Amino acid sequence: MNEKKLHLQQINSTLLMHKGVSLHVQRDDQIHMLINGNKWRKLKYNLVQMKQYNKSELLTFGGAFSNHIHACAAAGKHFNFITHGIIRGPQLDINNPTLKFAKQCNMQLHPVTRLEYKERNNPEYLHELQQRFPNAYIVPEGGSNELAIPGCMELAQSLPEHDVLVCPTGSGGTLAGLIEGSNKLTQVIGIAVLKQAEYLKQEICKLSSKAATQNNWQLMCNFHDGGYGKFTPELWQFCQTMQTQHNLPLEPIYSGKMMYALWQLIEQDYFRPNTRIIAIHTGGLQGLDGLKYRGLI
Ligand SMILES: Cc1ncc(COP(=O)(O)O)c(C=O)c1O
Repeated sequence: MNEKKLHLQQINSTLLMHKGVSLHVQRDDQIHMLINGNKWRKLKYNLVQMKQYNKSELLTFGGAFSNHIHACAAAGKHFNFITHGIIRGPQLDINNPTLKFAKQCNMQLHPVTRLEYKERNNPEYLHELQQRFPNAYIVPEGGSNELAIPGCMELAQSLPEHDVLVCPTGSGGTLAGLIEGSNKLTQVIGIAVLKQAEYLKQEICKLSSKAATQNNWQLMCNFHDGGYGKFTPELWQFCQTMQTQHNLPLEPIYSGKMMYALWQLIEQDYFRPNTRIIAIHTGGLQGLDGLKYRGLI
């Protein structure tokens, strides 16, 4: 893994020049070909713990197109441990590129009904799973637990000086870790990628004591573009323009949603002149294959 080597890509555009702000993108999507972005940051210390607990298998949860399932399957193959994916079913389409890849990595896929999947955070259900898979270290959906925090914290601490740090937010682990790793003078912004995400603020405060006591962070809930997994043609057009004009690959579910929101905030003079912004590219580009497979792009 190459997470210590920062790859900050500067974005140059007339908009940024006109507004007098600077924008760099930390290309965490380039940490590793398969286990990249926030997936690696969140998994890193979980894998250390797994070893300390003498567990030889990893069990986790995800939807059929989940980046987290993809990354855990790849980590199992790379580090040579058995992986189990509890997949929201009820049926599995094994030709879907995410599941096809997971299977190629030897992940054991366990489809469950939507009703059973809803139990994924229920302690009793987790206890049952632990008995069924005694050698398994269990990681929650999306990988956002307390051990996800130090990996994301390290990322924030490794960055050069900046005034604003931005990331996309799904379950809140990444944002919580970035808040933990930032000083009080940095404004940390999460762009929620799902509808009605206000409840996540509480989750973030549970994961980060700094988030609970400081007010240098925000979760912006108005840029979901229709909800999780949804996006407008304008957003997809924006992703393509960023690729052609700035050589920045984006997908519309996480990184593209964040950059589109950030662009609008810059256009609306949300940031003062001379603000130095760093946006985190959290990876997830494999999701583009799933969107193509479903004919959505
Ligand atoms: C590519 C990508 N970016 C961002 C996120 C959101 O991160 P978090 O769930 O930590 O808020 C996810 C989901 O975990 C993701 O797959």
